[in-house]
Amino acid sequence: MKVLHLSDVHVDVPWTAFPRAGFAFPKRLLGGANLALNRKRAFRDARDKLRDLSRFRREQGIDLVICTGDLTALGTVPELEAAREAIAPLTDAPAGFVVIPGNHDVYVSDSVGHFDRIFAGLVDDGPYPRVRIVDDEVAVVQLNSARPNPQPWRSSGRVSDDQLAKLPAIFESLGDRFVFIALHYGLRLENGEPDRFSHGLVNADEVLRACASVRGAILHGHIHQRFQLRVPGVTPPIYCAGSTTEAGHEGFWVYEVVDGTLSAMPGTYRDGHYRFIE
Ligand SMILES: [Fe+2]
Ligand SMILES: [Fe+2]
Repeated sequence: MKVLHLSDVHVDVPWTAFPRAGFAFPKRLLGGANLALNRKRAFRDARDKLRDLSRFRREQGIDLVICTGDLTALGTVPELEAAREAIAPLTDAPAGFVVIPGNHDVYVSDSVGHFDRIFAGLVDDGPYPRVRIVDDEVAVVQLNSARPNPQPWRSSGRVSDDQLAKLPAIFESLGDRFVFIALHYGLRLENGEPDRFSHGLVNADEVLRACASVRGAILHGHIHQRFQLRVPGVTPPIYCAGSTTEAGHEGFWVYEVVDGTLSAMPGTYRDGHYRFIE
């Protein structure tokens, strides 16, 4: 089973597509200014890149694609619709496509609820944790760690107590399968330190404890830098895809699970094409 992990594609739309009423939220107004000044240029080619990533997926015989959130910048309906269209070439992988929201997809309160509606047919039903049983060997457990942060200075996440309470029974039910645990927020920075309170997963330690003995891997995005990490006392390795489309920092992973054993290959984007790092 070959798995492509992408994240934080932040698909761009023209300014004219943004609903004006959405800028009544101070958070989105400031986020829009940041988008104009900094981010828009970096994600300008996201759609073209996703088309090339689809080529890479076919050429590499990828079975399953997992996207760990932040498909938009400001969580508006036109952006979510543009992101759904932009990822379409990646969604027909033979073993499926798994997607969860990032904090930018639920940016402010008027964003909530649209993700499941617009990504219907790709997202799994029901409350989180959502479980995708891919086959007898592999399953994907999806945690929702993203929430609106009305304060402009905050972009933190949290996995609800309710989700954490359900995890032991879910892991038990998956038997011997290799379990990919997908969430948007990272559990540690690349150097192993906790992320800042205003930017990271506020209950990262609880999530690590809940997943500590799982035979699998933890996949996330949010931090726009691809890296892998092991946390002492935690069995599954942690992989951050970074941003798959941010100019100059493009990252992704391809995992292969053979007889329950994982190998991971880092990828990047050079000269107009996605490729493995040699
Ligand atoms: Fe992001
Ligand atoms: Fe994020």
